Amino acid sequence: MQLVNDRYEIQGIPVLDIAQQFGTPLYVYDADKIVDKINQLRNAFSSVDLKIKFACKALTNVSILKLMRQNGVELDVVSPQELELGLHAGYEGSQITFTPSGVSFDEIETAVAVGSIINLDNLIVLEKFGQRFGGTVPCMIRIKPNVAAGGNAKIMTAHEGSKFGIDIRQREDILRIVNQYGINVVGLHQHTGSDIKEANAFVRAADVIFNFAKDFPNLQIIDLGGGFKVAYKEGDPTTDMPALGAQLSEAFLALSEQLGRKLQLWFEPGKFLVSESGILLVNANVVKSTPNRTFVGVNSGLNHLIRPMMYDAYHHIVNVSNPVSDQLKTYDVVGYICETDTFATDRQLTEVHENDTLALLNAGAYGFTMSSQYNSRFRPAEVLVYQGEAHIIRQRETMEDILKNQVLLEL
Ligand code: LLP
Repeated sequence: MQLVNDRYEIQGIPVLDIAQQFGTPLYVYDADKIVDKINQLRNAFSSVDLKIKFACKALTNVSILKLMRQNGVELDVVSPQELELGLHAGYEGSQITFTPSGVSFDEIETAVAVGSIINLDNLIVLEKFGQRFGGTVPCMIRIKPNVAAGGNAKIMTAHEGSKFGIDIRQREDILRIVNQYGINVVGLHQHTGSDIKEANAFVRAADVIFNFAKDFPNLQIIDLGGGFKVAYKEGDPTTDMPALGAQLSEAFLALSEQLGRKLQLWFEPGKFLVSESGILLVNANVVKSTPNRTFVGVNSGLNHLIRPMMYDAYHHIVNVSNPVSDQLKTYDVVGYICETDTFATDRQLTEVHENDTLALLNAGAYGFTMSSQYNSRFRPAEVLVYQGEAHIIRQRETMEDILKNQVLLEL
């Protein structure tokens, strides 16, 4: 979304027109922004054989998945349902990696059956995999490198106390099981966390994986997960992709050389690819003055965007209906859920009037996918702006969706 001639636009379309046409609350994604981010990542790693696997838990709309596919991006999924969505969007099973955490073995068998490659994340499942498939099915192993990094304790995944992956200190156990069953380990994986600003965390985690790589003669893939930091507010630090690309590529090429084999480098970004592409449009239902603060109550809440409440995440907010004004006022922007659901406290906005449309920025990742029907409210519609046109890619829910699957007993 850009401010052009005092009006907010996406690909030349006035944002207010989109809000009017499709109603609010509404998620709107800019396809150009996603393609731009894909290219940024590719450019940063242009000297290596790079594969991008979109961590689709960030945004699973099938039209977005199709856009990813069109642009040569493959998928990382964490459930059989995400896998189904990927197939529905036209992916081959073999283009989808399954990176589950503590799932039943049935789910792993389901993914193997469609040709997906699995990231095995505990010793028990590694052993079961060996017993069931021997060396017939290639797999990857998720390692926990014991590196603590991420924007919030809730989204760190590779520190010592984390449930994810197989602790690198259990490397001997891994090798014993792999050798016992002749398991065909083609890749090593790690994912440190989300919203990581220090490039150094990636380098340290990569080091652990690169070191272990030497123990696997069939290794073809190093997968370093996702977690690149995006700017949620002006001046926020971000992952310096060109610098990180240069540093990691050099170490990666040295490893390939040392092993005497060409390896593929994989990443699984979620936020980096889609966060900035998305906004959540909401309307001001009420502007409520109290002796010490002014609340803007909007027609959305933690049921549509839970990140501020769950991770204390900052989402920048603009008043699309009043795009430019020298006079800023201070507001608390709150939702309509009957529970405290504050989007922002003491936020400076251009003056807000009833029915104004506000945009919460950076809402593309973990926005819609973490939404719910709490308070029995509908989930929002989703729109994708693609080649200068706004397309509906998910209808707003209706009462039918809320009643679907409920059973009214004959009492
Ligand atoms: N790979 C794996 C194995 C993951 O678990 C995740 C995210 C990613 C890749 C992508 O991470 P990203 O590039 O998006 O940081 N709901 C939280 C984020 C949870 C991330 C879970 N795993 C949030 O809204 O901040």
